[in-house]
Amino acid sequence: MTKVLVTGAAGGIGRTLRAGLRGRYPLLRLSDVAVQAPPGPGEDLDGADLTDIAQVRAAVAEMDVVVHLGGIPTEDSWDRILATNIQGTYNLFEAARLEGVRRVVFASSNHVTGYHRRSERVGPASPLRPDSRYAVSKVTGEALGRLYADKHGIEVVCLRIGSFQPRPLDVRMLSTWISPADMVRLAACAIEAEPVHFEILYGVSANRRAIWDNPAAARFGYRPEDDAERFAAELLAGRGACREPEGERLFHGGSFCAMEFSGEPGRIA
Ligand SMILES: NC(=O)c1ccc[n+]([C@@H]2O[C@H](COP(=O)([O-])OP(=O)(O)OC[C@H]3O[C@@H](n4cnc5c(N)ncnc54)[C@H](O)[C@@H]3O)[C@@H](O)[C@H]2O)c1
Repeated sequence: MTKVLVTGAAGGIGRTLRAGLRGRYPLLRLSDVAVQAPPGPGEDLDGADLTDIAQVRAAVAEMDVVVHLGGIPTEDSWDRILATNIQGTYNLFEAARLEGVRRVVFASSNHVTGYHRRSERVGPASPLRPDSRYAVSKVTGEALGRLYADKHGIEVVCLRIGSFQPRPLDVRMLSTWISPADMVRLAACAIEAEPVHFEILYGVSANRRAIWDNPAAARFGYRPEDDAERFAAELLAGRGACREPEGERLFHGGSFCAMEFSGEPGRIA
C-alpha cells in the first residue's frame, strides 16, 4: 500500500511515469512548480518549489516513497545548478528524513561517469568522472543519498538515467537510450524492490550496444524490453546531427564532455 510522491512530475519523465504508474499505488502525489493536468482518481497535485524546504516537507509528508525527478536536466550556470539541483536535492533528503519517508529514488545521470573513455565499459563501481556542473550536482545527489542511507536508514536508489527519448536520436543513443516503457518498468522496480539499503542502477534499455554494466538490475527485477538497435541502420546511414563529431566520440558523456572543453584529451586516461 505504497504512497508515492513524484517531484518534477510535469516534466518529460514525470508525465511518462504519471501515465505509466496510474492506478498502481493507492496515492500518487505529483509535485512540480509547473502547471499540471488536473488530478485523476488516486492522484494528488502539489506545487512545492524544491528550493523551499518548508514546501518540500509538506509535499513529502505521509509519503512512503519519493521519486525525485525535479530539477534542471541539463548543463546550466553554477548559481542555478546550486540552487535547484544541489540545495533542492538536500532539501528533498532532509525533508524525507524529517517526515519519515521510507525510500527515495533519485534521478541521477549517466553524466556522473562522463569522462571515462568510450572504449571502456563503466558501471556503478567505476570512479566518478563528472563531465559538467550538472553532473557534479548528480554526484552530490548520490553522495547525499549515501549519507541519508547510512546515517538515517532511508532506503536510496539512484538511477543513472541514460537518454530518455521516444526513440534514439543519434549514434550515441544506440548505447544510451531508455525508452518510455522501460523507464516506467525501471521506476516501478526502484519503488517496489526489496530489500534496499543504497543502490545505483543505470537507466537504460536492453541496447545491444550498451556501454554500462548494470549488476543490480536483475536483483531489482528490471527487465528492459526495448533495444535501440532497430534504429541503428537508419542512424548510422544518417548525416549531420545523427553522427557524433570526433571530439564527442571519445568519452561516455558525448557532447557534455566537449562543451566548454579547454583540457588535454590525452591526459584523460
Ligand atoms: N531526460 C533524460 O534523458 C535524463 C537523463 C539523465 C537524468 N535525467 C534526470 O531526470 C530528471 C527528470 O528529467 P526530465 O527530462 O523529465 O526533465 P524536465 O526538465 O522535463 O523535468 C524536470 C521538472 O522539474 C521541475 N522543476 C525545476 N525546478 C524546480 C523547482 N525549483 N521546484 C520544483 N520543480 C522544479 C520542472 O518544472 C520540470 O517539470 C531530472 O532530474 C534529470 O536531470 C534525465
